[in-house]
Amino acid sequence: RLLIIDFGSQVTQLIARRLRELNVYCEIHPYQNVTDQFLQDFAPKAVILSGGPDSVTRDGSPRAPESLWGFGVPVLGICYGQQTMMTQLGGKVERGHGTAEFGRAFVTPAADQLSILDGWFADGNEQVWMSHGDHVSQIAPGFKVYGTSPNAPFAITGDVARNFYAVQFHPEVHHTPKGAKLYENFVRLAGFTGDWTMAGYREQAIQQIREQVGDKQVICALSGGVDSSVTAILINEAIGDQLTCVFVDTGLLRKNEAEEVTRMFRESYNLNLIAADESDLFLGALEGVTDPEVKRKTIGRLFIEVFDKYAAQIDGAEFLAQGTLYPDVIESVSFSGGPSVTIKSHHNVGGLPEKMGLKLVEPLRELFKDEVRALGRELGLPEQFIRRHPFPGPGLAIRCPGEVTREKLEILRNADAVYLDQIRKHGLYDEIWQAFVAILPVRTVGVMGDGRTYDYACALRAVTSVDGMTADYYPYTHEFLGETATRIINEVQGINRVTYDITSKPPGTIEWE
Ligand code: XMP
Repeated sequence: RLLIIDFGSQVTQLIARRLRELNVYCEIHPYQNVTDQFLQDFAPKAVILSGGPDSVTRDGSPRAPESLWGFGVPVLGICYGQQTMMTQLGGKVERGHGTAEFGRAFVTPAADQLSILDGWFADGNEQVWMSHGDHVSQIAPGFKVYGTSPNAPFAITGDVARNFYAVQFHPEVHHTPKGAKLYENFVRLAGFTGDWTMAGYREQAIQQIREQVGDKQVICALSGGVDSSVTAILINEAIGDQLTCVFVDTGLLRKNEAEEVTRMFRESYNLNLIAADESDLFLGALEGVTDPEVKRKTIGRLFIEVFDKYAAQIDGAEFLAQGTLYPDVIESVSFSGGPSVTIKSHHNVGGLPEKMGLKLVEPLRELFKDEVRALGRELGLPEQFIRRHPFPGPGLAIRCPGEVTREKLEILRNADAVYLDQIRKHGLYDEIWQAFVAILPVRTVGVMGDGRTYDYACALRAVTSVDGMTADYYPYTHEFLGETATRIINEVQGINRVTYDITSKPPGTIEWE
């Protein structure tokens, strides 16, 4: 296994991700915990030193354990990792003085090349991503320079005899195009064969859950989304008898969703599941509410109340399981208290733990969405389930501008089911990030048969996106749109007009509220 010593970089998890992609098992440990004894016990086959926000020129700044240098395994230092490596091995690092570099830079190769740079420099200079204030001003004895950039004369350095390598830039980020290659070369050099897989992750996560939870009880809010589902199944495998999941039917779910989700989890996974039908409570509280933010806040508040109520029935619940992913961790770190305005009050179970005094179990904290999907496959979740489009916590309420009524929800559910059926039949589901119907708060006049109709209009929405932050409308053919409109009007009582929403995000948002 490989050890990543974390000096606090925002992108340390990306190093782990690059290694997982190479099927190499690694663990990240904060530098404070990595003592000489820890290193002995961990017995890594290679070590990577991450970047970090501190300056090695500051007294008391973080260091790698001294015994690392005599440990006899390959070491790769990144950014701060490079600087502490140089400092600890007898080189020098200086503060700024106009040599800071942030963003794109180009590295020029030296005449001699390192094996960890195989595949680099085929087209001359290589683009890399820099983010540093300090820079190495003198390399440590035994090291040579293998690449320079305008502001980092020691962009790539190495001591081949000892297998120590150090780079100023961040090979783990996307904007260092050959970065993955560098990691690949490094782990091959360290003797990893790339035989570790998601099955390994599953085992490791199960072990960690058992250690963390001991014999205590865990509760989990299961929404039926991929993240909470994978979380629940994983914890169920680890400590099934101590887990209770609560699935709240808010009355704002899609057609058949509550039945399908609860059936699947009970039958295929034998999950201890409370299916809480609280639709009267939610729909009652939403009566007369038209303001989108009030809707969102009402739903968020009730959700916590309901969850709290069921959790209180579980004796000795000490842990709350959440499907927090790595991007959520990053966002909450970098943006909490930031200057951005609230566009929408997003609803999730984020407020639960503080209120309930529970400790968190977050087995997906290190994973990215596509890795969660891979883990879901590993756990045997059906493919169709894994590829489901995202569905917002406030559910259909925010697809029903104006007042949310049972009548409108019923019409919306039926229209949405026909629309999704159309998308599936035409093989478009996987090309689209998210697709749904919004029912508009207007009735319009139509003619069907020989009669006059006066029914609701609806809008179809379908967007492409990578992360939901920006989005574009999906370019359906006119034939598809025409056929879908006809089907919805023919098959769904209560709708006599269909429109297609072609707004991108920005300036629109994906949901209507
Ligand atoms: P917007 O409408 O903000 O949506 O462009 C971006 C993505 O987030 C989903 N969404 C939510 N997800 N709780 C959630 O868990 C929410 O309150 C919420 N509001 C929007 C939306 O479906 C889209 O995928």
